[in-house]
Amino acid sequence: MKKITKAVFPVGGMGTRFLPATKSIPKELLPIIDKPLIQYAVEEAIEAGIDTLIFITSSSKHAISDHFDPMPDLREKFAENKPHLAKKLDTIPLEVKRVFVPQGQPLGLGHAVLQAETLIDEDEMFAVILADDFIQSEVNPLKPLMDAAINSQQATVSVEQVAQERLSSYGVIAPKQWQNDVTKVDDIVEKPVVADAPSEFGVIGRYVLPHKVFEYLKRTQQDHSGEIQLTDALFEAMKGEGLQAVKLNGQRFDCGSQEGFVLANLHVAMQDEDLKQSILKALS
Ligand code: UTP
Repeated sequence: MKKITKAVFPVGGMGTRFLPATKSIPKELLPIIDKPLIQYAVEEAIEAGIDTLIFITSSSKHAISDHFDPMPDLREKFAENKPHLAKKLDTIPLEVKRVFVPQGQPLGLGHAVLQAETLIDEDEMFAVILADDFIQSEVNPLKPLMDAAINSQQATVSVEQVAQERLSSYGVIAPKQWQNDVTKVDDIVEKPVVADAPSEFGVIGRYVLPHKVFEYLKRTQQDHSGEIQLTDALFEAMKGEGLQAVKLNGQRFDCGSQEGFVLANLHVAMQDEDLKQSILKALS
């Protein structure tokens, strides 16, 4: 069984909920305290064994590639007197490969993933990571997904229980039968009205997909807002080879929303004793 070594990071969205900040920087570069969302996502991928990072970018924004530049001159300047700062410049190990693919037009998540087609071998599965889903967990969130996908050779999505009133913002699955946090999927519906939602399990931003998904994406029609939805291709994968879901074991913050972003920052800040004391004092 071929190892999963490539991860796709769709970072070409418009991030309208964070305008004007996202006029010139992708939302994936917004920081949780001092570290951008995309760097957390990349660290998670590398820890899970990924050695090739494929960023699907918006063509006018180069800030993500700049973020992962090694900056040897500055590093040398800090090396002697400020080694802690030099270390912070090492945003990515040099041996990890990076590929930047312009999406061209922001035609949706499915369209973004499709841009990676030529970089994935036909017998290869690959991960997709949405950096704006910020996850804090003991266990690397990608690993159980990779294990389940390798075992079954089926497209595999990460899910979590979502409050009823928020279900209509998610792709929602119908689980067949849970076994150790893994289930086959009987149905998947994009942004259902609550009454039609097949369960309370919403798909979150971690996927492991087979090459075949590109075939389904190419056949997927644009929806009413002009976007090509990944969920539609996953529905076809479910009818074809089958689809699985793995329950997230951890805490997720939807940093594509202002509320989730602020809560994620607070959550991480409260883990730092100095910041925690300052916050508690300010709030008292
Ligand atoms: P979102 O649905 O959050 O859309 O994308 P968005 O455009 O980024 O943000 P809003 O809704 O306008 O505020 C989910 C993920 O898919 C990527 C985004 O960058 C994000 O990581 N995406 C979305 C693309 O790469 N290309 C697209 O055309 C759309």
